[in-house]
Amino acid sequence: MREPDAEAPGRSGTVPSGSAGRQRSPSSLAFALPWPPLVDAERGIGLRPWGAADADATALAAAWADPEVARRNQVPARHDEGAAAAWIAGEAQRRSRGLAVDLVVFESGRPDLVVGEVGLVMADRLRRWGEVGYWTVASARGHGLATAAVALFSRWALAELSVARLLARTAHDNPAAARVAERAAYLPAGDLAEGARLWFLDRH
Ligand SMILES: CC(C)(COP(=O)(O)OP(=O)(O)OC[C@H]1O[C@@H](n2cnc3c(N)ncnc32)[C@H](O)[C@@H]1OP(=O)(O)O)[C@@H](O)C(=O)NCCC(=O)NCCS
Repeated sequence: MREPDAEAPGRSGTVPSGSAGRQRSPSSLAFALPWPPLVDAERGIGLRPWGAADADATALAAAWADPEVARRNQVPARHDEGAAAAWIAGEAQRRSRGLAVDLVVFESGRPDLVVGEVGLVMADRLRRWGEVGYWTVASARGHGLATAAVALFSRWALAELSVARLLARTAHDNPAAARVAERAAYLPAGDLAEGARLWFLDRH
């Protein structure tokens, strides 16, 4: 297997999605929502679209206000509830344009409560490489949620979206993020000049 270049374009963090419908059209580069909904019953988590619960904008604004999330993920300069609501409202368009897809992580039986996010941005449209980003709320960390969510999301994205390879970028001083990538079956692709490790996972 060819190693991805360490210079692959990418992003980090939170990203966008859209309402292109639930069925994937093979000729379309739009990202569809997962259907049926993505659930890992054994690990007790599911992934759902943003905006499905009334309190989503409040939860997203709170996550953006977490210094660790803001430091490790790409969050907007304005991260109040209004900005979060606008970001959620724009999700469908980003997804329909094939730019990004982001899903809420929830625990089984509590779909309204946001415990994290996992998503991808299209990092290289020509090669169909996406870069994943993820976070969990501070109170939910250390229980395997991010690992389960990234594994579930990545399997779905590679199988169902027009994505050939997924990349993850983890800072050297963020060992938890690296461990999540590793446990979600990503392989190390090398270290970047910016003090981060690049990981990849291919469609099989
Ligand atoms: C990184 C993050 C997503 C992990 O979320 P989480 O729900 O706690 O992740 P999990 O519980 O699934 O797994 C964390 C793993 O990291 C390990 N870990 C945690 N802190 C660690 C540390 N300081 N050193 C080494 N490993 C560490 C845990 O032991 C666990 O591994 P294990 O299952 O083998 O024991 C969460 O801390 C977060 O949101 N951080 C802020 C945003 C961020 O960094 N996002 C990633 C951007 S690439």
